[in-house]
Amino acid sequence: MTDILVVGTGGREHALGWKLDQSPKVGKIYYAPGNGGTSNNVSIPVDDIDKLAKFASEKNCLTLVGPELPLSMGIVDEFQRKHLKIFGPTKDAAQLESSKIWAKNFMKRNKIQTARFEIFNDAKEAKEYAKSVDFPLVVKADGLAAGKGVIVCNTAQEAISAIDVILVKKAFGLAGSKIILEERIDGIEASYIALSDGSVVIPMATSQDHKRIYDDDKGPNTGGMGAYSPTPVINDSIAEKIQESIINKTVNSMKGEGIAFKGFLYAGIMLKDGEPYVLEFNVRMGDPECQPIMMRMESDLYDYLMASIEGNIATLPPILWKKQTAVCVVMASKGYPDSYPKNEEILGLNSRDESSFVFHAGTKRVDGKVVTNGGRVLGVTALGDTLESAIANAYSRVAKISWKSKYFRTDIGKKGLLHLS
Ligand code: AMP
Ligand code: GLY
Repeated sequence: MTDILVVGTGGREHALGWKLDQSPKVGKIYYAPGNGGTSNNVSIPVDDIDKLAKFASEKNCLTLVGPELPLSMGIVDEFQRKHLKIFGPTKDAAQLESSKIWAKNFMKRNKIQTARFEIFNDAKEAKEYAKSVDFPLVVKADGLAAGKGVIVCNTAQEAISAIDVILVKKAFGLAGSKIILEERIDGIEASYIALSDGSVVIPMATSQDHKRIYDDDKGPNTGGMGAYSPTPVINDSIAEKIQESIINKTVNSMKGEGIAFKGFLYAGIMLKDGEPYVLEFNVRMGDPECQPIMMRMESDLYDYLMASIEGNIATLPPILWKKQTAVCVVMASKGYPDSYPKNEEILGLNSRDESSFVFHAGTKRVDGKVVTNGGRVLGVTALGDTLESAIANAYSRVAKISWKSKYFRTDIGKKGLLHLS
């Protein structure tokens, strides 16, 4: 049996560990640093690569990295140098997420469909461009900005303000020293996540996130307020198109450029008139998409992680999925994605039912109580025979959980129901 070290603090990491815990091949699962819902927590921050390597070496663990930060810092390269087993992309491969400019140029030279764009480091030139185009723009900081470095604009004036925020006021520091101005594409957004061993890439189940903070996709972007899987928005023919023209092409083109992409590859897709455009790449599982996807996965995740590391995914059968739908409602603290209170006691966590599971994110344990410790606090995830029943099951569990400043969207999955009607 193999012991595992899961790096990260979120609902995604709790869900990955929860799934691995069901494998007969997996022994003890450690979380660094974990949260109030995970056990065997090790207090090492996600960016302390030396300490993580020392721990993984002492315990002889396989390491699974949840978030993008350590990947972009080169945790996989460092572990490989030390002959430690680790799942995920190298620093070079992680550029697909860590530099939006790198990703856009990569897509351009390999003819992967994405919104047209220009790159600027000079505010005056950027503003002149914003005034000169006759289509709405999205202004993006180049580097990692915890999901906040993207401003979707309606008018040239909004774009000019966004340029000021990122390039002049440096709201995202060095991550915003260069920006992308790209055409806004209006359509249906969905997440397409696949697993690669550097050559062969297989799809995970489809899903759809809910990025904005308020119902009906209003308000600022967040890390994601809820997700469900599968999504009817990506039918079989669209899935095939995304797999061929985006996912396989990306991994093959990277290989052609000398970079083996191993790990989860996540394409944020905008569907416009049935055509998929890449809005962004992530080099990791989505959060909260991971929670419903893991709940539906029948196959042993451990086998697929090992096959990605060892480069033999082609020898495994396709992943089996439960036919049911899974819905994850994120319960957050009021104020997120800006400032919010912490340390509020969470009640109702012990109620149990067969069809749901509460994944923890921003929680911690203090004196035997579970208290809030972050913006996104819990991912209440439930299965149902239909999308409608999965939504009902998730919200009935949500109703049993409370803390002073709880906040959640009431319309998770509604986009899928509307698409079906
Ligand atoms: P990103 O981090 O690049 O995915 O951007 C965050 C969010 O901004 C996406 O999930 C979309 O909702 C939105 N977005 C990004 N790029 C575009 C675009 N070109 N057109 C419309 N919306 C976009
Ligand atoms: N849910 C969006 C993300 O993980 O980036």
